[in-house]
Amino acid sequence: MTELRQSVRFPAVKIKLSNSFGKEVRMDYKKFIDEQIASIRKTVGKEKTINALSGGVDSSVVTVLGHRAIGRQLKTVFIDNDLMRKGEPQRVVKAFAKMGIKVDLVDARKDFLSALAGLTDPEEKRQAITDTFYAKVFGKLVKKSGAKFLFHGTILTDIEETVAGIKRQHNILAQLGIDTKKAYGYAVVEPLATLRKDGVRKVGKLLGLPKEIFNRIPFPGPALAARIVGEVTEKKLATVREATSIVEEELGKTGAFQYLAVLLNDYATGIRNNKREFGQIIVVRCIESTDARTATATKLPWEKLNRICERIVNIKGVNRCLYDLTPKPPATVEYI
Ligand code: XMP
Repeated sequence: MTELRQSVRFPAVKIKLSNSFGKEVRMDYKKFIDEQIASIRKTVGKEKTINALSGGVDSSVVTVLGHRAIGRQLKTVFIDNDLMRKGEPQRVVKAFAKMGIKVDLVDARKDFLSALAGLTDPEEKRQAITDTFYAKVFGKLVKKSGAKFLFHGTILTDIEETVAGIKRQHNILAQLGIDTKKAYGYAVVEPLATLRKDGVRKVGKLLGLPKEIFNRIPFPGPALAARIVGEVTEKKLATVREATSIVEEELGKTGAFQYLAVLLNDYATGIRNNKREFGQIIVVRCIESTDARTATATKLPWEKLNRICERIVNIKGVNRCLYDLTPKPPATVEYI
């Protein structure tokens, strides 16, 4: 498991200078797509290939790029880990069906919940999700499928942050010295590894993905588990899922870089219907950023904050709603 093995990377595309002073550097994304399609075909040949789609921008773009290159030779699965947003698995499968791409929905909710039971340490939680995903659920699927290649939506920022030790991105294995070929029997192909998020969105747009997908706000690999401080349980997931849905509905039109809801592990005293209660606390986070490496809190209108608060404290068991003003650094965007 510890031997370092390079995952398959494709060459960086040529960069075009848009003026004679060389100030503005523009990437030719159409050419990038053509080159990646050619590289994918050459790399995988006639071998079976598989990828896991999460519905996020990166894995969505890789899915469409892969299907453009090798069609049905690429099997795409969506693993329902119970950590997704409201209706997400069904929504993603439907969106890809509309693009003519068949996605197999795999119900692994029990596997993830039991792996997370009793864990409170952020890194242990992330590790449990990684292990369950690769070794237990996806690893088995890959073996069963006979795939020799796995497409992955790793982007440049993931690699930089992982190598720098800022955070363990759950998707980076080669960079962490994990030999996927030896451990799981497949080679990882990362066609987006030279791009940052803005580049991935441009490629997605050119590939014909719907705007709701290529323009989606970032969502972390560990999903809602990154937004529950302490142990992840079905009940807490239901609470943070509801809060997430409210925040996304209310802040969807703000144009902010990212917005989310977090469930704390603490409880606070409150009063409802003339009775004292001890309720849960939801934190709302909304940030401005260009690449998530640094961020500042969005200056949201007071009325908007009030409306969100009113709706959130109506969620069963929740009696406080806070707005997080902390920039990154020192805070990270997510809470674990
Ligand atoms: P942090 O919390 O590190 O987040 O400030 C920076 C950006 O990365 C997203 N994020 C992740 N994305 N896997 C991902 O694919 C992860 O494990 C992960 N953790 C954080 C986060 O939502 C933010 O946009």
